[in-house]
Amino acid sequence: MAREKWASKIGFMLAAMGSAVGLGNIWRFSYVAGENGGGAFLILYLIFVLLIGIPVLLAEFSIGRQGQGDVVGAYQNLAPKKPWFVAGFMGITSAFLILGFYSVVAGWSLYYLWNYINGTFWSLPEGGYEATFGSLISNNYTPLFWHALFMVFTILVVLTGVKKGIEKANKIFMPALAIMLIGLALFSVTLDGAEKGLTFLFKPDWSILNDPTVYLAALGQAFFSLSLGMGSMMTYGSYLSKDESLPSATVGIGIMDSVFAIVAGVAIFPAVYAFGISPSSGPSLVFITLPGIFSEMPVGNIVGLVFFLLLSIAALSSAISILEVPVAYFLRKFNWSRGFASAFTGSIMFVIGIIVSLGMGMWAGVTPIGDKNIMDSISFVASDLLLPLGGLVIALFVGWYWTKEQAFEATDMHSNAIRNIWLGMVKYVAPIFIIIIFLQSAGVLGW
Ligand code: PHE
Ligand code: NA
Repeated sequence: MAREKWASKIGFMLAAMGSAVGLGNIWRFSYVAGENGGGAFLILYLIFVLLIGIPVLLAEFSIGRQGQGDVVGAYQNLAPKKPWFVAGFMGITSAFLILGFYSVVAGWSLYYLWNYINGTFWSLPEGGYEATFGSLISNNYTPLFWHALFMVFTILVVLTGVKKGIEKANKIFMPALAIMLIGLALFSVTLDGAEKGLTFLFKPDWSILNDPTVYLAALGQAFFSLSLGMGSMMTYGSYLSKDESLPSATVGIGIMDSVFAIVAGVAIFPAVYAFGISPSSGPSLVFITLPGIFSEMPVGNIVGLVFFLLLSIAALSSAISILEVPVAYFLRKFNWSRGFASAFTGSIMFVIGIIVSLGMGMWAGVTPIGDKNIMDSISFVASDLLLPLGGLVIALFVGWYWTKEQAFEATDMHSNAIRNIWLGMVKYVAPIFIIIIFLQSAGVLGW
């Protein structure tokens, strides 16, 4: 069977942007920034995006396009009989873990959407949004229904190939989400107490850098948000033809993704302070602040409805890029049909999600890693460890396994003036940073 191809560079760009922009920019960015002190975290995160994220993203795209394969196959095609492909299995593992919890959170977004459609959230629910959200996620059944619904949507998109439809739709929905977030940010800064939120987000309190866990959190967030290190971007790159140029697309995606996160932060942190919510509330942060903002706004009901619709669509276009990683592998390896591969893979992820969801309810006391609950533990292993590890392999492969000429050729940096700087980032800066952060997090350096 011939491998699929994007119809055009625009198709590729829209799919890659759709993958990047999602719950990571709004839900995950704000809670991780909130837990890690705000301003200093933001700067660290942006440094990692620039020094590691964007250069390695270009490397990941180019391995996929040059290797013409799924996350395992691309390495095998480029380096037959060498162990590089093991990183592909790591990527497949991350995909199962990440979509497992991603779908649960996207399910919460669908639940909110439904409550704006049926009017329940038009007035402050009894006990406020914080209590409402708390009882939603700790319920043993309701979130599973919405998680299942989201997973079914994701499977349907991946198996029917309406992916192309989602990409085209993103041409409208993504700018709409951007405009909406900017509008929310502008409104949010007028709330009482907004300055405190802006200070939190933009005035670095450097003392947080003494906390050794901040570095890994910022690195993991940079990788998660850029969809980097897992194989989503490698797989998407493999559907791109040789005559399209990669560097500008990569930089565009990196910048846009970060702008989404910053604007989301400006929308959320003023409200966090205005409503007296703790910035370190964790994964519940946006789900308790956003409805609060909508309730203060003119026509907030409609704004809330549209917002959660757009957020759910953004989550869907990210989720399909995660599901695509194992599906592309299974298609080739076992000759499964796309339909069976999608349904089978999605079902296993659904089961992982059930465990995650119950980890907020009847298994709330289960803490597999340190004091982290099931979702935090899975997110830590997959997003903070496996993704940067996958990125490390990508950087080493392009920086050290490939010759300089191969690397420039594969990334379309034939005559680009900054190509040596890029190669230096991929060859030295990214691997050294990632290794130091890992060692330091393991306490080896004893910082
Ligand atoms: N980048 C996506 C987001 O920000 C999530 C994602 C992670 C997608 C890893 C693909 C791979 O929501
Ligand atoms: Na993102």
